[in-house]
Amino acid sequence: MTTTNGHIPLVDLVTVHRELEEDLVSVFRAALGSARFIGGPMVEDFESEFAEFCETPHCVGVGSGTDALRFALIAAGVQPGDTVLTVPNTFIATTEAIFQAGARPDLVDVDEMTHTLDPDALRAYLETQCIRDPRTRRVANKRTNSPVTAVIPVHLYGQSTDMDPIRDVADEYGLLVIEDACQAHGAEYLSKKDGRWRKAGSMGHAAVFSFYPGKNLGACGEAGAITTHDERLAEHCRQLRDHGQVKKYFHAIEGYNGRLDAVQAGILRTKLRYLAKWNAQRRECARVYDELLADGTAAVTVPHVPAWSQPVYHLYVVRTPYRDALQQALADTGIGTGIHYPIPIHLQAASARMGWSRGDFPVAEKAAAEVLSLPMFPGLRPDDQRRVVDAIVEFAARRSA
Ligand SMILES: Cc1ncc(COP(=O)(O)O)c(C=O)c1O
Repeated sequence: MTTTNGHIPLVDLVTVHRELEEDLVSVFRAALGSARFIGGPMVEDFESEFAEFCETPHCVGVGSGTDALRFALIAAGVQPGDTVLTVPNTFIATTEAIFQAGARPDLVDVDEMTHTLDPDALRAYLETQCIRDPRTRRVANKRTNSPVTAVIPVHLYGQSTDMDPIRDVADEYGLLVIEDACQAHGAEYLSKKDGRWRKAGSMGHAAVFSFYPGKNLGACGEAGAITTHDERLAEHCRQLRDHGQVKKYFHAIEGYNGRLDAVQAGILRTKLRYLAKWNAQRRECARVYDELLADGTAAVTVPHVPAWSQPVYHLYVVRTPYRDALQQALADTGIGTGIHYPIPIHLQAASARMGWSRGDFPVAEKAAAEVLSLPMFPGLRPDDQRRVVDAIVEFAARRSA
């Protein structure tokens, strides 16, 4: 969409909802008619359809991606006091959920090309910063003595992490793997280990999704889900989301209020029918950007897509050392952009107590200074993409003049 004043937004959430308005309103009418606002068939139907989409036997709908992460960590067996590894360049919910599960996050830097968890850095962390108990074979961080029990690879911007080597390292060191697939609904990874393409959300002990409105599959409010092959883990998450209930007023454990409501589930179910088409449209938009930016006159680095990856372009993120000036120049011509993310986790004020400092994770820090998300959404028109690229080329020409 280009609005009447010529503005090209980073993301257009208005058009898609206008197009689906009748279907979405009828979901709400159905919920009003049955008064089943929490749980019930709308939630169960969505869960089984999303499980099928992710190629996992189980899906548990919850209140948000953050709930999903916290429940998955607890249900997978992460204990209070454990260390859980993840990356510095993620949305803060990843580390918040680790804290909320009673554990302690520690960070491993990302790969320079993909900005997802670097398997070599993960191995180096375990080899150099941990000790292994020769009897139990479990690892603990040397400095804190905290057992390292899980790793959360974050499938950033709609692209899977390189999962084969991460699963190998995790197996070797006895770590649980919880995929943060909050930005990767439908992304695929060519696993040599498994000899086939695997869906994001199907490769770990459990995986988590966010259905925040701007995601590739977004609710009209808050929602999230856990996917897993593990029936026991799924059942534990079902209890955690519903105050530990096994049946009405019988509480097996202390849980949370983290349920997916029926209206959001019905909306997600309606939109799930379009997800494959929307992802294909995003891929086509990315192809157009790649082509328009290929001759180098725009002087930005385009997203790197390894042969093992089929991304779904939740975001299309370019890199330039002149990021802030380019963002301002695009804003001046009515082009919306975003920065995902401007401050890595270890430099956030909220992380002050962790004792991390600048220079600890140089790849993530460089990314934070250089990344710029260009307009990307299904329905973005090629002529608008050309306008975006023309504006970047003009900026580059002015800079080098
Ligand atoms: C990588 C990542 N993890 C976790 C979350 C948290 O999801 P939610 O906002 O639904 O709690 C998000 C949402 O933006 C995310 O992008």
